[in-house]
Amino acid sequence: MRLKLALLPGDGIGPEITTATRTVLDAADKAFDLGLSWVEVAIGFEALEKSGSTFPDSALEAVRGCDGLILGPVSHNSYPQRAEGGLNPSGELRKRLDLFANIRPARSRAGIAPRTGVPIDLVVVRENTEGFYADRNMFAGAGEVMPTEDVALAFRKITRSASLNIARAAFAEAEARRKAGTGAGKVTAVHKANVMRVSDGLFLECVRSVAKEHPQIVYDERLVDAMCAHLVRNPAEFDVICTTNMFGDILSDLASEIAGSLGLAASLNAGTDNAMAQAQHGSAPDIAGQDKANPSSLIGSAAMLLDWLGTKLKDADLCAAAKAVDAALEAVLSQPEKRTGDLGGRSGTRAFAKAVAGALTA
Ligand code: IPM
Ligand code: MN
Repeated sequence: MRLKLALLPGDGIGPEITTATRTVLDAADKAFDLGLSWVEVAIGFEALEKSGSTFPDSALEAVRGCDGLILGPVSHNSYPQRAEGGLNPSGELRKRLDLFANIRPARSRAGIAPRTGVPIDLVVVRENTEGFYADRNMFAGAGEVMPTEDVALAFRKITRSASLNIARAAFAEAEARRKAGTGAGKVTAVHKANVMRVSDGLFLECVRSVAKEHPQIVYDERLVDAMCAHLVRNPAEFDVICTTNMFGDILSDLASEIAGSLGLAASLNAGTDNAMAQAQHGSAPDIAGQDKANPSSLIGSAAMLLDWLGTKLKDADLCAAAKAVDAALEAVLSQPEKRTGDLGGRSGTRAFAKAVAGALTA
C-alpha cells in the first residue's frame, strides 16, 4: 500500500457522496495500480454521538497519519455550541493542518450551458486560515465578541505571512496553467482596499511583491464589488483570482454557478504537507439518504487531490489517474440522461458513481 487516504463522511448527503467518490477512486486504483488504502474517520453528528464532539482530537490524530483527506460536507450550522462539542470540522482541519490555500476551479463542462452564455475557465485561489473567519482567526478565543447585548463585533485578521502564502499559491497556479496551455498567465487580486485600507492594503502589498517575482504573469487588481459585475459581464477576462478568505468564499460560488452549476464545483484545501478534497457545496440535509445527491463536486475535488499528491510525490501514475478521473466525470456529465436529477438526468448518486467508475480508463 503506497497511499493512505482518510475518508471523513460528514453530515447530510456526506456519507453518500463520499462513498460515491470512493467508488470512483477505487476504480482509478485498479486502473493505475495506485496502492490506495482507506481510513474512515467519523466527524460531525456521527462523532458527536460517539464521543461528544463533532471534531474529536482522535479525528485529527487519525488524519495526520494519512497522505490526503476527503471531507464530506458538514451541517455545522446545526451543531451545538463549541463548549458542548460543536466544532466546525472544515474550519478546524483547514486551520490545524495549515491548509492555507483553497483552490477552486470554475470550469464549464461539455453540454452544460454556462449561465451567462460564455464558457468559463478560471481558478479562485482563496486564503483559508484567517480573514473574517471567527472560528480560526485568533490564537485563543473566537474573532467575534458582544461587548453589550446590543453590539456585536467581528474581527478580520490579515497577516503578511498568510497573504504572501496565498499570493505564491496563486502565481504558482497561474504558471502551471500557462505551461499546461489551460490559462492565459494572469493573476487578478480581489480586495476592498478603498474601504479597508489597512488590512486589504497589507494584502495588496504582499500580492504586488510576489507579482514582481513573476514578470511573465500579467497582474491586475479589482475591487470585490466591481469584480462580481465583471465576472457576470465577461468571465473570459479572468484566469487566476487571488483573494482573502470570505471574498473567496463568495466569489467562488458565483464563479462556479456562472460556469454551469455549483453542484459541479471542485475544491482543494492545500498546504505544504497536506491537502484535503472538499466539495464546494453544503450538506443538503433535505435530500440526505435518498440517493439523489450529485457527487460530481467531490469526485472532481478528489481528482484535484490525486494531482496534488502526484505533483508532490513526483508520481506520474497519480497525475495520470487524476486526469482519467476528471475525463470520466466529463464523459458521464456530457450524457444528459446519465446526470443526476439536479441537472435534469435520471441517475441516482450510486448509479452516477458507477457510471463514472465504468468510464474510467488508463
Ligand atoms: C465553504 C463553506 C465554508 C466556508 C462554511 C461551511 C464554513 O462555505 O467551504 O466554502 O465558508 O468556508
Ligand atoms: Mn462557501
